[in-house]
Amino acid sequence: MPTSKKYKIVGTSVIREDALHKVTGQLKFIDDYKFPNMLYGKVLFSKVPRAKSLKIDYSRALKIEGIQTILTAKDIPGTNVVPLIKDDWPFLANSEIRHIGEALALIAGESKEAIEEAVDKIKVSYEEIEPILTIEDSIKRKDDPILPDGNIISEYVIKKGDIKKGFEEADVVVQGEFRTHNQEHAYLEPQGMIAVPESDGTITVYGSMQCPFYVHNAVSRILGIPLNKVKVIQTPTGGGFGGKEDVPSLVAGWASLLAYHTKRPVKLILTREEDFISMSKRHASIVRHKLGAKKDGTLIACESEILFDGGAYSTLTPVVLWRGTIHMLGPYYCPNIYIKSYAYRTNKVPAGAFRGFGSPQVIFAGESLIDELAYKLNMDPLEFRRKNALTVGKQTATGHRLNESVNLIETIEAARKESNWEDKWKTYPIIKGNKARGIGISTIMYGVGLGAGGKKIDRSAAFVELHSDLSAKVSVGTTEIGQGMRTVLAQITAEALGIPYENVYIEMTDTSKVPDSGPTVASRSTFMSGNAILNACEKITNRMKMVAGKLFNLPPEKIYFENSTAITRTRPKQTLPLKKIVDKCLEERVPLADFGWFIAPFTSFDNKTGQGEAYYVYSFMTNIAEVEVDLKTGVVELIKMSSAVDIGQPINPEGVRGQIYGGVVQGLGYALLEKVIWENGKIINPEFATYIIPTIKDFDNIVPIIVPGSYSKGPYGAKGIGELPLMGIAPAVANAVRNALGIRFYEIPLLPELIFEKLINPDSSEKLSK
Ligand code: MTE
Ligand code: MOS
Repeated sequence: MPTSKKYKIVGTSVIREDALHKVTGQLKFIDDYKFPNMLYGKVLFSKVPRAKSLKIDYSRALKIEGIQTILTAKDIPGTNVVPLIKDDWPFLANSEIRHIGEALALIAGESKEAIEEAVDKIKVSYEEIEPILTIEDSIKRKDDPILPDGNIISEYVIKKGDIKKGFEEADVVVQGEFRTHNQEHAYLEPQGMIAVPESDGTITVYGSMQCPFYVHNAVSRILGIPLNKVKVIQTPTGGGFGGKEDVPSLVAGWASLLAYHTKRPVKLILTREEDFISMSKRHASIVRHKLGAKKDGTLIACESEILFDGGAYSTLTPVVLWRGTIHMLGPYYCPNIYIKSYAYRTNKVPAGAFRGFGSPQVIFAGESLIDELAYKLNMDPLEFRRKNALTVGKQTATGHRLNESVNLIETIEAARKESNWEDKWKTYPIIKGNKARGIGISTIMYGVGLGAGGKKIDRSAAFVELHSDLSAKVSVGTTEIGQGMRTVLAQITAEALGIPYENVYIEMTDTSKVPDSGPTVASRSTFMSGNAILNACEKITNRMKMVAGKLFNLPPEKIYFENSTAITRTRPKQTLPLKKIVDKCLEERVPLADFGWFIAPFTSFDNKTGQGEAYYVYSFMTNIAEVEVDLKTGVVELIKMSSAVDIGQPINPEGVRGQIYGGVVQGLGYALLEKVIWENGKIINPEFATYIIPTIKDFDNIVPIIVPGSYSKGPYGAKGIGELPLMGIAPAVANAVRNALGIRFYEIPLLPELIFEKLINPDSSEKLSK
């Protein structure tokens, strides 16, 4: 796909700023950092899912040589709650334990050996209580709530039109109950922090994280010290995927508490297994979904019940469930809707943010059932989608009339062409020997940014300084977590200031350099920080234009900057080196640095009806999966994935394609391989030998396509890409398997044993016809 040449640097695949030192292994991650006099920290985690009357005796552990301190909840000088939404998660268990992997005590010692030894010597006693381990159980045992506020963490509704009438008018109706399991983020770098107490009573925290301002808040709260005495500096972060949004606040709180009491720097890095059992997961779900359509293929009714397993504490569940609820219907117009959603507490490790934020679960159900509707109507599922797809002027499930940047149909078209859909849909399934081939599609939308659910914190800041040598330094409040944010923001800065990309340096995010800019989530960095940078750059270039105007003897609006040159909008053009303008500004003491601020566009949501402009803009995607199922083993092999996105203007097309490759592979893991296995509230596969994630060798034929688009409020027209590529993969694969085998699966992951079971017991499954 040709990229737009409207801009000089935006739309060009410049090389990532971090490419070289990452691939050569030179970049330092938190575990590579050392401070003089540094101690090592460790956490004692609970081994039981639910208990009361917790007592901890660490007298023997404290005697071990090299142990400096052991702390429990009573040693917290500030507040023992991780500040998030509902404020129900303690940094350290008080007298009750609510999940395996809950932190009970903290240890700091001179060596890793000492803390390892000490953790085994701490004696814990408690009275066990029968745990609540499933959504069904949590509903049943509402009189035995895990926390005093009850087992429902949050609930939402979307009501539109008349659902009863909708189904009465429907010629065909399909329904099903869909289940999804927890998914582990599997970031390469486990959670880790170093807290450094300074002699003046301030504390600096370094570490791997997505949201430095959450950590900032958390450390101030646990220590009971003002926000201006806490400085949080993000170190290069080896992946987050939503898993470094809420929980780094815990890790930073623990490290800071140890540093506060010992007055020495403390490094706390979780092992893979500790990380696995104690850190958040993608919510497991049950989705009961029902759709109705007219004979001509018009979608007319949608009724759904969404149930999420939130784990013991609410953390980000309210916003994850909210996003899931909004995305239930998918990118279609439907006049009659009733969607109800609930998140329940269970005695399991809290579920949190994970790429897609509650939407992959509902999209699996939604896009599977859209296919069943098409089958029942004898329609090509691609045509069914095209017919009902959102376009400019149509309304979303929440009644939001979209007035620009809706290129969903273009993504359907692009994926259709790339996959050769028509021919394959006509001829598939093809069965050759032991192999059955099928093809499947999913179309999705994704609300970029925090939307109405998080509008109070949806703002972003930037600080930009253009130096005398035409190099520029930029600080923003969002973070680089591998997605390429710093590269994209450097391109935006360079475009705005008219200097080369290589001249821009984006600082590592530091809470002392910029105001709270909200979290790095919801694919919002390019849009939010990009716009904040543009705001700062505009202030700087406006002043430069004034100065240049005097040199050219022209009004400032007749001047622009490009390729390190000041150019006039006159005929013929006049030019001056940008350096000349900058020197003149410095001579006249005109500041070439400024602060930028951006507030997200308008959103609204009425909690009683679920109607409103839930998000200011949506990105769109179509995935077409071609698979081959081994009829003897049940193994699903990906033949090809054609993945087309509408993300507005791509800032760095190769970066966008990188996000598509990575997101699709993570989605394939979710669809086919990854399953957290629980036994009595315990994860029994907490390492990568038994929790299987895809590698580069598993899935290679992914074809990313970027359809042309632009969003008027985006920086140079950009929307957001980060999470989109993962979200529609599971149903595209399940739909392809359905096409290959004639069997509808209502559960992911589609492990070989699940498929094999249905293949050898065809009677136990409904055999469907094409
Ligand atoms: N890509 C990489 N390589 N590593 C990550 O941790 N996180 C994803 C996505 N892509 C992630 C990633 C998630 S969950 C989000 S919300 C976005 O990146 C955040 O980045 P953005 O705001 O720049 O899109
Ligand atoms: Mo991404 S789940 O919004 O961090």
